[in-house]
Amino acid sequence: MKAASLFLFALVLSFAAAIAAQTPPSGAPPAGAPHRHPAPKNLQVLPKTLTGDQLDEIMDAWAASLGVHCDSCHTADPAHPRPDGRPGLDFADDSKPEKATARRMFQMTEEINRDYIAKIDNSDAPVTCGTCHRGHLGPQPFALPKEGHNPPKAPAK
Ligand code: HEC
Ligand code: HEC
Repeated sequence: MKAASLFLFALVLSFAAAIAAQTPPSGAPPAGAPHRHPAPKNLQVLPKTLTGDQLDEIMDAWAASLGVHCDSCHTADPAHPRPDGRPGLDFADDSKPEKATARRMFQMTEEINRDYIAKIDNSDAPVTCGTCHRGHLGPQPFALPKEGHNPPKAPAK
């Protein structure tokens, strides 16, 4: 019984030592920890309270909705190459016109939802970037049926 609790105590100690060994004195995250995103510093339309990780989720969704990569809206930053050698991106920089367009698009989407969609009874389908873009940078035209349109017939009574 005594041996067992001693063993447990040693186990706890060795865990604590292992954790301490992983934490560099600088306060940087331990090696191998999940990648954390720095807090944004130039948000003009998204809530300024977003954490880096929350913002990253939104950015992933925008890129996927438009079928593009981050560099469609963000400027290359060759001075800070990524570990794989490709140029990094200066995310806070505002020089790409696509970034300005995306800001306007976000405001438009918020307005559509707030002023129109939310006023529809029982509405639970907010408009998102993907509603219009559907995986394309430029929304694709809707092809009208050639034979004119045939609304479904009312069910026979
Ligand atoms: C369709 C354009 C677009 C795409 C694609 C895009 N972003 Fe953004 N990003 C923006 C806009 C616009 C802002 C600024 C939002 C604001 O002003 O509130 C922003 C802001 C950011 C910021 C904050 C920078 C700062 O310090 O203020 C980061 C980080 C970021 N994006 C990362 C990414 C990553 C990573 C990807 C790819 C997964 C990506 N973005 C894809 C448009 C885009
Ligand atoms: C109501 C439909 C609609 C919604 C919602 C919408 N967009 Fe758009 N967006 C468009 C249309 C239409 C265009 C094309 C305008 C043109 O090129 O004539 C466009 C163009 C763009 C462009 C410029 C593309 C280029 O070729 O440079 C970007 C970037 C963009 N949208 C980002 C977004 C983002 C990010 C969101 C969500 C926050 C969004 N859009 C939501 C309809 C929409």
